Amino acid sequence: MIDFQTVLDTIHQEIGSRKEWGNVAAYIPELADIDNNKFGIHLIDFNRKNYSIGDSNESFSIQSISKVLTLAMALGLVGEDLWRRVDVEPSGDPFNHLSLLEQENGIPRNPLINAGALVVADVLVSRLKNPKEEFLAFIRKISNDPSIKYDEQVALSEKNTGFRNYAAANLLKSYGNLSNDVDVVLDFYFHQCSIAMNCAQLAKTFFLFINRGNCMQEQTYLNVNQAKRINALMLTCGFYDEAGEFAFEVGLPGKSGVGGGIVALLPNEFCVATWSPGLNKKGNSKLGMEALEKLTSDTDLSIF
Ligand code: DON
Repeated sequence: MIDFQTVLDTIHQEIGSRKEWGNVAAYIPELADIDNNKFGIHLIDFNRKNYSIGDSNESFSIQSISKVLTLAMALGLVGEDLWRRVDVEPSGDPFNHLSLLEQENGIPRNPLINAGALVVADVLVSRLKNPKEEFLAFIRKISNDPSIKYDEQVALSEKNTGFRNYAAANLLKSYGNLSNDVDVVLDFYFHQCSIAMNCAQLAKTFFLFINRGNCMQEQTYLNVNQAKRINALMLTCGFYDEAGEFAFEVGLPGKSGVGGGIVALLPNEFCVATWSPGLNKKGNSKLGMEALEKLTSDTDLSIF
């Protein structure tokens, strides 16, 4: 039996003593002031035992990690029809690039880049009566945590500065791949990105992806195939133009956000969330990636 607490303690000590912690995302003004001297990890195993270290109970902005959760909700609502509007190929480009979207006539490469997430947001806006309320309720249910909230300040900050997302949404609209008003879809998208969670909440929220679509309370939100497909997308697309590097170094499906969070998982074994707001050059948490590399190397637990 692996002693995960000792594993996390060792990782925190070794990786936390690194000199280079990366830089916080400054393009969203509200995130620019976050103290980058933070580092937390929380792991939940398949038996629902919890292990944590460092700043694992401090909330941060989950940002693009939310794209996996909107995808799960949309796939649960519309099923395979979703893939007519968004593809499942890695882009090899940064999360906010637009050139492929134009070359490929408004069909985003995958649901985890911004353009793809906007199409998923559009599906939810079309399908739900009160999209923001119902999406938050979905997250509170799968995490079994009614305290999770949007951070209105972060949402507003991105609304005021998210020019590339306005461009992406307008481009999608011009190709007929956005049914709702650009502003309505973007308001939803900026809110989903603003959700605040700590590492413990994030690891528990993603439990359903290690448990064939069933949350910690054994309620079913996805069928086995849908859970498999979302995990495949996290592996191939979860880190944008660093997805290959993440698979190479860590060897797990996962998703990053520019708030410095990363969630990664091994089906039937564990789900782990790390937070360190300093990012590497590709916009993924520097210490988070290093910590996860050490976790899978030290325990010999990866999908490979
Ligand atoms: O749309 C954006 O630019 C942000 N709300 C989310 C970007 C993000 O987290 C990219 N992932 N690493």
